[in-house]
Amino acid sequence: MNAMDTAQLDMRARTILTDNDRGGYTVPTAGLYPYQWNWDSAFAALGFASFDRDRAWRELETLMAGQWDDGMVPHIQFHVPDPGYFPGPDIWQGRGPVPSSGITQPPVAATVVRRLFDRDPVAGRDRAAALYPKLLAWHRWFMDWRCDRGRVFVTHPWEAGRDNAPDWDSAMAAIDPAGVMDYHRRDTDHVDASMRPTRADYDRYVWLLQYGRDTGWDPARIAAKGPFRVADPGQQFILLRAMRDLAALGTALGEETAGVAGWITALEAGAAALWNPDLAAFDACDLTTGVRAGALTNASFLCWYAGIDRSEMRAHLARICDALPFCLPSLDPADPRYEPKRYWRGPVWAVMNLMAGNGMAEMGLTAAAETLRTRTADLIAEHGFAEYFDPETGAPAGGAHFTWTAAVWLAWASPSAKG
Ligand code: GLC
Repeated sequence: MNAMDTAQLDMRARTILTDNDRGGYTVPTAGLYPYQWNWDSAFAALGFASFDRDRAWRELETLMAGQWDDGMVPHIQFHVPDPGYFPGPDIWQGRGPVPSSGITQPPVAATVVRRLFDRDPVAGRDRAAALYPKLLAWHRWFMDWRCDRGRVFVTHPWEAGRDNAPDWDSAMAAIDPAGVMDYHRRDTDHVDASMRPTRADYDRYVWLLQYGRDTGWDPARIAAKGPFRVADPGQQFILLRAMRDLAALGTALGEETAGVAGWITALEAGAAALWNPDLAAFDACDLTTGVRAGALTNASFLCWYAGIDRSEMRAHLARICDALPFCLPSLDPADPRYEPKRYWRGPVWAVMNLMAGNGMAEMGLTAAAETLRTRTADLIAEHGFAEYFDPETGAPAGGAHFTWTAAVWLAWASPSAKG
């Protein structure tokens, strides 16, 4: 890529972020996702940080302003109603200060706050200090209500941010969606149905939503008796990483961080328990039945991001990156369930690559990290700022003009990125 191409792509990425800016928060893409999504916002902030630091902080402040009394930060905040999206605020009936969903999403925010603070410790101090107790409360909520002996679990596939990953197959199959409301899904109005989860999946998503809502979003009941409790390597590694960043931030701000250190120890033990020797990889586990997913996914490759290295994971990485022109696929192509175009069962997501690549670089897998970064850059340069991509052809899929892909470009993949 020459300097001119880079400058043009940087400009396009900035335009996407500003186009998707709704004033204090960013939508993932107009139409398909017209609200504020939790982890998308954290990545948006990383992107904004490359050209507008104030706007980056504001994105995170808006996100955390939607926090519930119990510490939960919802996966969607419905700031302005949009009838083109299902399920909307009237269906979810979240009980926070902003109309919202009732589940959370991967806690990337603390990691981004630390990054912004480290770059600007003087000017960013007050803003980081104001966010710190909120992040702490959210992380405590995870430890109280989404953690089983150190293993972090999700109570809905959407909570993992990897909607139809094979990780959930066994728990989803056990659900009988009897009594699911009549509904018209809106995602397939915007993009091709062959790229989206199936109708059977969707019935269960809606049924699980109804279950949680009928408890009044009671975290104790959902954690103890809920119909869907799956330990998720993605959530595990992202929370563990976020805890390490929260501890570092707390120390820099002069806070007492012994409690966070205790959580880190618990999460490290939980991560070890997600190792599946039969798969030789980190793997999801249905906590109700003990059944393992047997799925090597891009979430498994977030181990380095959490500060955990395993030689078997390095071998999987080399094998898969040799087999495919574009990495990381969301499922091992050797898995019979692999589908290169269907949502989280094969395609490449730039945000997963950014986290995996950062982790790899930090843990000394320098060459592999650089390969992943340059291949992600080629993918975006050749195929645009799509929601996700086919790992075999690079074909763009899902929504276009996508916030988090633009953010990944600016923060990491672009030759101009400062890291
Ligand atoms: C899809 C993704 C989820 C993301 C959302 C908005 O639901 O699976 O991870 O947050 O879209 O981009």
